[in-house]
Amino acid sequence: MPVGERGAIRLESLTRRYGRVVALDEVDLEVRAGELLTLVGPSGSGKSTVLRLIAGLDRPDRGRILVDGQDVGRVPPHRRSVAMVFQDYALYPHLTVLDNLLFGLRVRRVPRDEARRRARAAADRLGIADLLDRYPDQTSGGQRQRVALARALLREPAVHLLDEPLASLDAPLRFATRAELLALHRDLGTTTVHVTHDQAEAMTLGDRVAVLDGGRVRQVGPPQQVYDEPADTFVAGFLGSPPMNLVPGSGVLGGTAGLILGVRPEDLALGADGPVEATVEAVEALGSETILLTRCADGTRLTVRTGPRPGVGTGERVRLRPDPARLHRFDAETGRRR
Ligand SMILES: Nc1ncnc2c1ncn2[C@@H]1O[C@H](COP(=O)(O)OP(=O)(O)OP(=O)(O)O)[C@@H](O)[C@H]1O
Ligand SMILES: [Mg+2]
Repeated sequence: MPVGERGAIRLESLTRRYGRVVALDEVDLEVRAGELLTLVGPSGSGKSTVLRLIAGLDRPDRGRILVDGQDVGRVPPHRRSVAMVFQDYALYPHLTVLDNLLFGLRVRRVPRDEARRRARAAADRLGIADLLDRYPDQTSGGQRQRVALARALLREPAVHLLDEPLASLDAPLRFATRAELLALHRDLGTTTVHVTHDQAEAMTLGDRVAVLDGGRVRQVGPPQQVYDEPADTFVAGFLGSPPMNLVPGSGVLGGTAGLILGVRPEDLALGADGPVEATVEAVEALGSETILLTRCADGTRLTVRTGPRPGVGTGERVRLRPDPARLHRFDAETGRRR
């Protein structure tokens, strides 16, 4: 099967407990062949556990993992066509960066010159070409992370499992590497599950994003759709930074009892005729935008995202207009979208 048509993953009722901790609770999830799926969720929500189970490094208590329709439950890790970038890199310390990159290619008996050419090309793309002769402990955390990423990309497996592969990079490098990763995925078409904490990665990298909480999948969908129509108050609060404002019904955002109303910080406009009155408690000028932390007379706190230099300061009164087309309604009891 050509790359792009293989590597379809299907998780069925996947459950994994560690003692009393339920790391994964009946997880159903599908990753289409050639798709890049980002997996997001708070610390401890089960993201790495999902990857370890797909890689075969850990076994589920219940449920099945199918790759291209085949149950891989009894397939040992080295026989699964999966390359993983671990959260802590896991490079071979006794090998140079170049030999780390060549390792997988040697195992697969790629001819020496061809292997070196490919390793150098990958190192170039990820900006580590000048580190090839060093040992991992002679490089920085961000550099090691890129070596681990290059090594996984070189293996050309059916599935890439990337556990926060950009977490150690500084902001400009993260931005550049994110773009490179997206380009690489377009070129290679390898099915990829990409775990991240980063809001920008969650929104921009994947064809779809899956939100995990407490070992359960809360929502799966194209990032913009999940952002625009979060399935529940957890997803509303998790995707987006700063998070969505959530206010009980019949409070400052209107609505009725039994509802929770939500409005994103960018959907609250400053203006003299806005119906909601609030006092600015703090101003965070971020350069390209400003975050205002405000409080209404009834104690409700509302976060507002506005442009640079909004011309209001701490202690000032402002009027806010929620965009009526962008109000979200949730059931107060279940938290589900209504
Ligand atoms: N080997 C283990 N033994 C005991 N508990 C474990 C083990 N591995 C994971 N857990 C627990 O399972 C839960 C899920 O862990 P997991 O590593 O999948 O989280 P995560 O979403 O990757 O978190 P992070 O964002 O911090 O990396 C956590 O509560 C964790 O403490
Ligand atoms: Mg993890």
